[in-house]
Amino acid sequence: MKLLSILTGLAILDSGLAIPYSEYILAPKSRTLHPVSVHNTWGPVTNPSALLTTSSTSSPDSNTTTTFHSTSSLTYDFGLNIAGIVSLNTVSTSASNQTIGVTFSESSLWVSNKSSDATADAGKDEILWFEIEGPGVVTARKEKGRGAFRYLTVVYEGTGSIEVGGLEVHYTAMPHWEDDKLGEYTGWFHSDDDLLNRIWYAGAYTNQLCTIDPHYGDALVHIFQINASVSDATNVTWWSNYTITNGSSALVDGAKRDRIVWAGGKFQTLSKYMSIAIPGIVVSTNDVVSVENSLTSLFDIQNPSTGQLPYAGRPFPSGNISYLRTLWPKYKLALHFSLSYIDSTGLMNVTSPADWLRSGMGGHNIEANAILYHTLNQATLLASVLNDTSPSISYWSLTASRIKQAANALLWNNEAGMYIDNETTTLMPQDGNAWAVVSNLTLNASQISSISEKLQGRWTAFGAPAPEAPVPSSNISTISPFITSFELQTHFLASSAHTALALIRRQWGFMLTSPLMTNSTFIEGYSSDGSLHYAPYANDARISHAHGWSTGPTSLMTFYVAGVQVTGKGGGEWRIKPMLGI
Ligand SMILES: *[C@@H]1O[C@H](CO)[C@@H](O)[C@H](O)[C@H]1NC(C)=O
Ligand SMILES: *[C@@H]1O[C@H](CO)[C@@H](O)[C@H](O)[C@H]1NC(C)=O
Ligand SMILES: *[C@@H]1O[C@H](CO)[C@@H](O)[C@H](O)[C@H]1NC(C)=O
Ligand SMILES: *[C@@H]1O[C@H](CO)[C@@H](O)[C@H](O)[C@H]1NC(C)=O
Ligand SMILES: *[C@@H]1O[C@H](CO)[C@@H](O)[C@H](O)[C@H]1NC(C)=O
Ligand SMILES: *[C@@H]1O[C@H](CO)[C@@H](O)[C@H](O)[C@H]1NC(C)=O
Ligand SMILES: *[C@@H]1O[C@H](CO)[C@@H](O)[C@H](O)[C@H]1NC(C)=O
Ligand SMILES: *[C@@H]1O[C@H](CO)[C@@H](O)[C@H](O)[C@H]1NC(C)=O
Ligand SMILES: *[C@@H]1O[C@H](CO)[C@@H](O)[C@H](O)[C@H]1NC(C)=O
Ligand SMILES: *[C@@H]1O[C@H](CO)[C@@H](O)[C@H](O)[C@H]1NC(C)=O
Ligand SMILES: *[C@@H]1O[C@H](CO)[C@@H](O)[C@H](O)[C@H]1NC(C)=O
Ligand SMILES: *[C@@H]1O[C@H](CO)[C@@H](O)[C@H](O)[C@H]1NC(C)=O
Repeated sequence: MKLLSILTGLAILDSGLAIPYSEYILAPKSRTLHPVSVHNTWGPVTNPSALLTTSSTSSPDSNTTTTFHSTSSLTYDFGLNIAGIVSLNTVSTSASNQTIGVTFSESSLWVSNKSSDATADAGKDEILWFEIEGPGVVTARKEKGRGAFRYLTVVYEGTGSIEVGGLEVHYTAMPHWEDDKLGEYTGWFHSDDDLLNRIWYAGAYTNQLCTIDPHYGDALVHIFQINASVSDATNVTWWSNYTITNGSSALVDGAKRDRIVWAGGKFQTLSKYMSIAIPGIVVSTNDVVSVENSLTSLFDIQNPSTGQLPYAGRPFPSGNISYLRTLWPKYKLALHFSLSYIDSTGLMNVTSPADWLRSGMGGHNIEANAILYHTLNQATLLASVLNDTSPSISYWSLTASRIKQAANALLWNNEAGMYIDNETTTLMPQDGNAWAVVSNLTLNASQISSISEKLQGRWTAFGAPAPEAPVPSSNISTISPFITSFELQTHFLASSAHTALALIRRQWGFMLTSPLMTNSTFIEGYSSDGSLHYAPYANDARISHAHGWSTGPTSLMTFYVAGVQVTGKGGGEWRIKPMLGI
């Protein structure tokens, strides 16, 4: 790739100046949003495109209203994934006290006049109904704000008609940022490759959409009731009014669906989720406060006796030493919970299956041990920042070097040129091989280039598959943009920027531009044949199309292609080492 110019990271411009590369920034310029086109209509609708330009406050005439007649519906397209609260301005009705409804969908696949896409493990979410007593504006209650949708369908099942003179959405993501400054990033990226530029900014925007008012998290109304065992659930009730954490903003995993960043309860994955979403945030919006609010809520509900955590990430992104100090005892407790699973081989024996929802995550698993190795090294680094010299610190270093030795002795297959998942299998996972490189569990450069080549050899037309997450009863497997972000790092660390960029274009290009995607945010997972089925879920409609863990290229293109990396605490030291590919 020929780089024309790259700017990144450094808030180098005074706030009065124009925002660079603003043509790529997807964040809306105002919180009041209107649809940009009509996607579909059913039944008798007069003047369907009238509401594309009007607002509920403008004075309507016959050319600026849309009339829904008996049994009709109309799907609007906002052009990109958004979040917010719907208002409708009714101008006239054939009778008082009627209802009109709306449904939401991120993907065009789930556009329907009967239901929204899903937030529960089964079924589809219920229509949001408005009671229309007569002319005037109706606005959804705050607990009926929707965390992510691109398509909005207005549904009229009455026998008369309703004339609507305005439709708008009040955008609710990034609640702590000023209404007209949602696109004021502090970091940017630019190259001569339009697709790569769009991918960088879509990653930044995905994390913005995943940043919500913590008083309006998913209430999970039917948790443990509507699950895969309920095959025909329809009309599932949903509210978004669960308080996730204190503060005025928080980072969640799936924008339409989740309460908080997920990662499945093990501390060794603490480095994992956050090593994708946080750097993406740091290099674009630098909205570190939302990350800290989410982390605080995590440690608040840590199991105080075992140290087990409810989710995961690389903490302390801001160089905020006092914040680090308050969480340090809990951090150590969590680490020691993980260390208690190391056995006489020197490796951790994983006994709880939860990770990123892949299967077979047990025993002397290569990924879990690579992450634990990485976390021990990180913890040692943090201890030195805090001047903690307690005996456990040298135990961490010793344990880390034993893990490295044992993993290479027991799990490296020299013939295949990759690591096996555990000693009882020939399966060579994407996650564990990528993590072995990322964590420097490898002993030499030839292991790294071998893993890079073998992983590349597996790509399908839609991206890099994870054989450790097969799709049951098929010969395909899951594509996890989360795990592929670690594969991208593997290719960069193998000094093959060319391979990494080819994978970004192939996989994230598909995720951006497929007609079933949002053309603006990144999906949490799909299948290696390109279908929108994510094997860990029974319910395809539940898949999130705005997922922080899928935003790897944003930070990785800054860190490796532009080559800008922070190397000292709190941004005190930088390394600039661009890596050009084509
Ligand atoms: C409505 O649109 C038609 C055709 O464009 C135009 O002739 C007419 O003047 C418009 N009416 C109003 C009230 O704006
Ligand atoms: C909903 O869409 C179906 C076609 O999928 C159509 O038959 C039905 O009339 C529509 N209902 C409304 C209220 O528009
Ligand atoms: C409409 O509903 C309101 C409130 O529920 C009620 O007071 C009113 O009588 C109803 N009007 C008609 C025509 O049904
Ligand atoms: C799944 O849902 C069924 C029906 O509501 C319920 O009886 C069962 O306990 C649920 N199972 C789990 C694991 O939550
Ligand atoms: C959907 O559920 C609501 C209650 O949340 C109920 O009033 C409505 O009748 C249900 N609709 C259908 C079609 O089951
Ligand atoms: C959330 O909203 C639902 C539906 O309106 C309501 O029943 C529930 O009490 C609300 N919960 C909280 C905590 O406000
Ligand atoms: C909010 O902060 C208070 C005081 O620190 C704490 O007790 C409470 O658990 C926090 N609430 C949440 C939802 O984190
Ligand atoms: C070892 O790895 C294989 C392949 O992923 C898996 O099927 C098996 O369950 C794993 N063993 C354990 C104990 O998890
Ligand atoms: C891991 O621990 C479990 C539970 O204690 C045990 O059954 C299993 O054999 C151990 N696996 C290995 C590879 O040691
Ligand atoms: C650690 O010690 C160094 C040298 O004494 C000191 O400059 C630094 O402020 C200390 N850091 C902390 C977090 O106490
Ligand atoms: C990775 O490990 C090797 C030894 O296996 C060591 O020589 C090298 O310095 C390590 N690299 C980094 C970046 O820590
Ligand atoms: C996708 O978005 C880009 C701008 O980000 C726009 O130029 C392009 O036309 C959109 N594609 C589709 C199919 O809407």
